[in-house]
Amino acid sequence: MKGLIDKLYGTSSLDRDEYIELINGHSEDDSKYLFSLAVKRREEHYGNKVYVRGLIEFTNYCKNDCFYCGIRRSNKAAERYRLTHEDIMICCEEGYKLGFRTFVLQGGEDPYFTDDKICAIVNDIKTHYPDCAVTLSIGEKEHKSYRAYFDAGADRYLLRHETASSEHYKKMHPSEMLHSHRIECLYDLKSIGYQVGCGFMVGSPYQTVENLADELIFLKGFMPHMVGIGPFISQHDTPFAHEKSGTLDQTLFMLGLIRLTLPKVLLPSTTALGTIHPLGREKGMLAGANVVMPNLSPVSVRKKYLLYDNKICTGDEAAECKNCLAMRMKSIGCEVVTDRGDSKVL
Ligand code: 5AD
Ligand code: FES
Repeated sequence: MKGLIDKLYGTSSLDRDEYIELINGHSEDDSKYLFSLAVKRREEHYGNKVYVRGLIEFTNYCKNDCFYCGIRRSNKAAERYRLTHEDIMICCEEGYKLGFRTFVLQGGEDPYFTDDKICAIVNDIKTHYPDCAVTLSIGEKEHKSYRAYFDAGADRYLLRHETASSEHYKKMHPSEMLHSHRIECLYDLKSIGYQVGCGFMVGSPYQTVENLADELIFLKGFMPHMVGIGPFISQHDTPFAHEKSGTLDQTLFMLGLIRLTLPKVLLPSTTALGTIHPLGREKGMLAGANVVMPNLSPVSVRKKYLLYDNKICTGDEAAECKNCLAMRMKSIGCEVVTDRGDSKVL
């Protein structure tokens, strides 16, 4: 397998069968080899720098009903909350003092937050903190909404496509949710001028090795600025409550493959990875990731934004997230930096 990994390192792409062979047949030694080349590639472009993004989970109301997600509308057990405009500004103020220069506003698809409300929030953040980037992660919208947020000052947008296969998509979503629309949204966002992040869960129900290979081919074609991946983790109040979760090894291997396939991409080591293993996020960095997204939401709501079970950083110690992460990153030779951390993908 080392030959295939060398080829990927040399050319930044493999064909579908080669990806399948690697994902299917790699040994522990192959993984180590992949990670060493992935870290080398990350260091060529970003040195030992880790970019931080302050995540503000501002609403857990959602009109959608994804089978895997703990805040789906049918989950009557979810305790719903919304942050106010002022709450969000306070999160940013605290985040700015802590050194964050990117704020990620993430939420369910919540009709309460009209385009006008979102634009007012984005505008307020950009007016108070002109040196900061604002990232939105609020789901599928129409072109004119994306346009309005961009004109209000939003810089980036995260929308995981969840899977590159429309058949696989149908097995994880109710029929009113269309894979084609989600992909259209991604192209729309790019055409407007956002730095765009897509992504998927590793080990999600019904996912095959072929699907994973197709993810890499999709990424290569779409050329996102960012890619968010993490293991699927079952949530006890969803239709997928009893499905197996994704594994650490599988997720790390995909991170390594993504770093070599898209050398300059911004690649977060996600909270979900930190949830399935105590050192998951450190291991993610050592497989090629270069971004961490600590939670800036008020501690009082963190136990409510539960997309999956056993999420970390939801307890009383959570206010210390940034320091804790900085220490963790230092322990593996990485340095957390205070700047916007824009993508080097053109
Ligand atoms: N396990 C892991 N990730 C999940 N997400 C949603 N539900 C789960 C789960 N059970 C991810 C989806 C979504 C992102 C915000 O969180 O990929 O796009
Ligand atoms: Fe909210 Fe999937 S449940 S977008």
